[in-house]
Amino acid sequence: MSEEFDVPDELGFTPAVPDASTDRDDAAPRRPKRRRPGLRRRIAATAVIVGALATMGGAYTLFAGSSGASDSNTPAEMAAKGRQLYETSCITCHGANLQGVPGRGVPLLGVGGAAVYFQVSTGRMPATGQAAEMTRKPAKFDDQQIRELAAFVQSMGGGIDIPTGTLRATTDLGKGGDLFRLNCASCHGMTFKGAPLSAGKAAPSLNEATDLQIYTAMLTGPENMPVFSNNQITPQEKREIVGYIQTIKASQDPGGHGIDRIGPVSEAIVIWVAGVGAIMIIILWIGAKTE
Ligand code: HEC
Ligand code: HEC
Repeated sequence: MSEEFDVPDELGFTPAVPDASTDRDDAAPRRPKRRRPGLRRRIAATAVIVGALATMGGAYTLFAGSSGASDSNTPAEMAAKGRQLYETSCITCHGANLQGVPGRGVPLLGVGGAAVYFQVSTGRMPATGQAAEMTRKPAKFDDQQIRELAAFVQSMGGGIDIPTGTLRATTDLGKGGDLFRLNCASCHGMTFKGAPLSAGKAAPSLNEATDLQIYTAMLTGPENMPVFSNNQITPQEKREIVGYIQTIKASQDPGGHGIDRIGPVSEAIVIWVAGVGAIMIIILWIGAKTE
């Protein structure tokens, strides 16, 4: 007797399992037996939906939190974190006080957050050496870190900061096209492929550039590109140029080059659609199993 009791107790079993099989299967009428899987199925399906929605919500929060400016960080906190990144990755060429280092790097006082965003997000900075021309490379820092570096440089010398709000206007593509032909096409080409310039330099392709990179390129005029100040090209005209470039690019490239090309909002939609699809499959599977 005592042995029989000890063994299931140690294993964490309760004697309910053999009891239920003998009692309920024989004694209980048929109706409750049919209802139970239905109820269980409904509870399981609800649990799966709640679980999946929670997971998707979590994934979306993570995703949304990793891009864009963070609300939880004040400019001073951002700048303090940016200083640390600067001291490990930029100081050897640009100097402890952003004064520049002769033969290595130009002064960064007053270049502003927009220039840092453009240079670091396109992988031009941190430079690896004295290349004649800085070219686009995969970025070394994520979006948050780039904004921290920008906040630090901005806090030290001021200048043009990273633009916020809507950067793309698509209501008047004709106007955007005219502005592009007038101001950009001579160097970047009508199809955004880029073109050689004098002295062995070249204007790069615009195919990889994001809205913010196009906008900050215009604001800061990297290397041989002229600066297009807000007096020359108003913010609204800049948005129209961005809208034109991005819309024509999208129409030239209907197959797509992976979801990194279509931007955060579309990526969120892709995650959402995939999540709903997964829920449908799980519900169908539970249904098939319990029938
Ligand atoms: C190996 C040296 C080197 C390192 C490291 C380096 N830079 Fe530079 N940086 C340069 C040089 C050289 C230029 C000028 C490039 C040019 O003429 O196009 C430059 C230009 C820039 C500019 C453009 C300045 C302007 O007037 O528009 C910015 C912004 C910048 N760097 C930021 C950074 C940041 C931020 C880091 C660290 C993440 C960094 N750089 C690391 C060498 C360096
Ligand atoms: C005089 C020639 C010239 C003109 C005009 C010009 N650019 Fe540029 N642009 C350049 C050069 C050169 C670079 C590369 C700078 C570098 O590597 O530091 C560049 C870089 C860029 C980039 C970065 C591309 C990437 O993916 O790295 C963008 C975006 C851009 N230009 C947009 C524009 C827009 C928009 C206009 C018109 C408003 C324009 N440019 C007008 C010469 C020009």
